[in-house]
Amino acid sequence: MKNDKDKAVETARFLKSYIKKSPKIGLMAGTGLGASTEFLDISVSFEYEDIPHFPTSTVESHYGRLLFGDMFGEQIMAMQGRFHLYEGYSPLEVTFPIRVMQELGVKVLILSNAAGGLNPKFTAGDIMIIVDHINLTGSNPLIGPNEESWGIRFPDMIQAYDQELVEFAETAGRDEGIQLHKGIYVGLKGPSLETRAEVRFLRTIGADAVGFSTVQEVIAAVHAGIKVLGLSTITNINDPDNPTPTTVEEVIAVADKAAPRLEAIIKNVVDRI
Ligand code: HPA
Repeated sequence: MKNDKDKAVETARFLKSYIKKSPKIGLMAGTGLGASTEFLDISVSFEYEDIPHFPTSTVESHYGRLLFGDMFGEQIMAMQGRFHLYEGYSPLEVTFPIRVMQELGVKVLILSNAAGGLNPKFTAGDIMIIVDHINLTGSNPLIGPNEESWGIRFPDMIQAYDQELVEFAETAGRDEGIQLHKGIYVGLKGPSLETRAEVRFLRTIGADAVGFSTVQEVIAAVHAGIKVLGLSTITNINDPDNPTPTTVEEVIAVADKAAPRLEAIIKNVVDRI
C-alpha cells in the first residue's frame, strides 16, 4: 500500500501536469466562500473526485472543487470545500490537501471557516482573525511515524498563526472599511453543537469562537513550514444564558452574506503578500 507521502507526491505530480506556474499561496475555503469563483482568474479547475487520492466532501455547504488561478500576479491554489473529522475522515485525510500544497511549493495558507461566537462582544456576521487556537479534537495529524521530508517530530506551535499575516489582515480591514475582531478559535470534533455547559467551559478556557475544522490543517501547515492566516465568520452566537438553537441553514445564510467581506479581506491580503 502507498504511504501518504507517496500519495501526496503523486497527486502533486498530477496537478503539476495541468498548471504552468507553481502556486505560492493556498486558499482553503469552508462554508460561505465555497460558491465564489470571481476572486480568481481561473486557469484550471478540478472536481475533487477527479483528483487522484483526494478525499471528497460530504458536507452540503461545501463544494468539492479545486481551482488554480491568478490573483494580482500570484498563482493561487484554492480549495472550495474541506474535509472534517466528523465526516469520518482521519486527521491524515483531513490534512492531505495541505501535504499536496507542500509538495507543490505553497508558502502561505489562508483558511476560512464558519464558527460559533463565544465572545459576548461578537455579533452574527462578524469576521474574526484567528490569532491562536486550542485543539480539543483529541486528534492530531502528526500522530504516527514522522515523515522527516515534511517536517520535524515536535513542531513548535507558539506562533502558529503568522503575526505578519495577522497584521496584513488588520490593515486590510481598515483599508476596506470592514470591522474585524481578533481571537482564539477552539477546534472540536463535532458534529453535535455545544451544550450550554460546554459553551461556558470554552469561554472559561479563553476561546472566542468554536468550530469543527481548521486546527488539523494548521498543525500540518506549521509542520510543513507554511505560514498560516485564519479567518472565521461568526455565524451564530452561543449564549448559555439565552440559549437559541442554531441550524445549518442559518449558519450557511450568515456565512454567505459575509462572504463578500471575507473575499475583500483575502484579496487585500494577497495583494500585500
Ligand atoms: N459550533 C461549532 N461549529 C460551528 C458553529 C457552532 O456554534 N457555528 C458554525 N460552525
